[in-house]
Amino acid sequence: MKRKRIAVLTSGGDAPGMNAALRAVVRTALYHKFGVIGVSHGYQGLINGDFKSMNVGSVAGIISKGGTMLKTARSREFKTTEGFSKAIQNIKEHNIDAVVVIGGDGSMAGAQKLSKAGIPTVVIPATIDNDMPGTEYALGFDTAVNTILDAVNKIRDTAMSHDRVAIIEVMGRHAGHLALSAGLACGAEYILIPEIPIGIDEVCKGLTHSTERGKQFSIIVAAEGVGHGDKIAAQISDRIPLSTSVTVLGYIQRGGSPTATDNIIASRMGAAAVKTIIEGKYDCLISSQCGDIVTLPYEEAFKKKRGIDHTLYEMAGILAK
Ligand code: ADP
Ligand code: F6P
Repeated sequence: MKRKRIAVLTSGGDAPGMNAALRAVVRTALYHKFGVIGVSHGYQGLINGDFKSMNVGSVAGIISKGGTMLKTARSREFKTTEGFSKAIQNIKEHNIDAVVVIGGDGSMAGAQKLSKAGIPTVVIPATIDNDMPGTEYALGFDTAVNTILDAVNKIRDTAMSHDRVAIIEVMGRHAGHLALSAGLACGAEYILIPEIPIGIDEVCKGLTHSTERGKQFSIIVAAEGVGHGDKIAAQISDRIPLSTSVTVLGYIQRGGSPTATDNIIASRMGAAAVKTIIEGKYDCLISSQCGDIVTLPYEEAFKKKRGIDHTLYEMAGILAK
């Protein structure tokens, strides 16, 4: 019987835990006697034929590393008819039976397009934004929250020493999950997220009240989707006589050694992706739901948008005041 071959790639923004998921996919597939092809540079690698055969040793020593050993890409060419056709042609020429995609919602849209063209795919959710529809958890989120927490704890020391309002701008693209979780974890006085807009006048009123209560410094965690930290600082300085500092955390949120949480979930999801293929279930997202790892067809996943937890947001506000 022809030996089945699985291709695996990482796509979109890199996230801590991608390597652990990759390791689980490769070793579980090899355990079940599949051939495994690693595709470098995401969907662009499918187009360029950037393929390499993987063995158990190929993924040795990567579980503790952030980023992705296969590298990733945001490929405009994959969205073109020519590029997409070339990707399909390469998949068929290399006798690949299924493709495992490790990435965010954009990558899942790409995987869905491959499925509709007859290429079986399975997606493992991975984006620090944790805004992936159809799953409660996407790889990288816990590591990124802890990176932000560590940074804010350091920034709080200098804010306290200088009686400053420290504004920390975090990633998340259009989502506020990172800011909300990190803000709650570090006890930020204000958490600014696009999903729940609050006026700068209200923030300044609160800061003034805190000052009057003797609280001489504050922490504001702002999601990038709300706007630049510098703009927020200027708006505050225009209104109240408080000293401000701005820290844009940027790309440190995307790297670092994955936490245990990320590596455990990544390993479970990687193994589940191969199991799903063995069971002949394709075109689905490997989804974390109430702590379980389940599968969800793409059509259903895309309908389950990940909104912000308003209760958590309100609680964070109460606890910070
Ligand atoms: P993420 O997967 O982290 O959300 P992107 O949004 O950049 O990152 O998506 C990763 C890649 O997936 C894109 O560079 C593109 O190649 C592919 N992709 C994204 N959206 C689509 C789409 N609607 N159709 C086909 N391919 C897509
Ligand atoms: O999607 C993950 C993410 O880190 C977002 O939070 C951020 O806005 C974006 O990627 C940055 O994109 P790039 O890596 O292409 O600069």
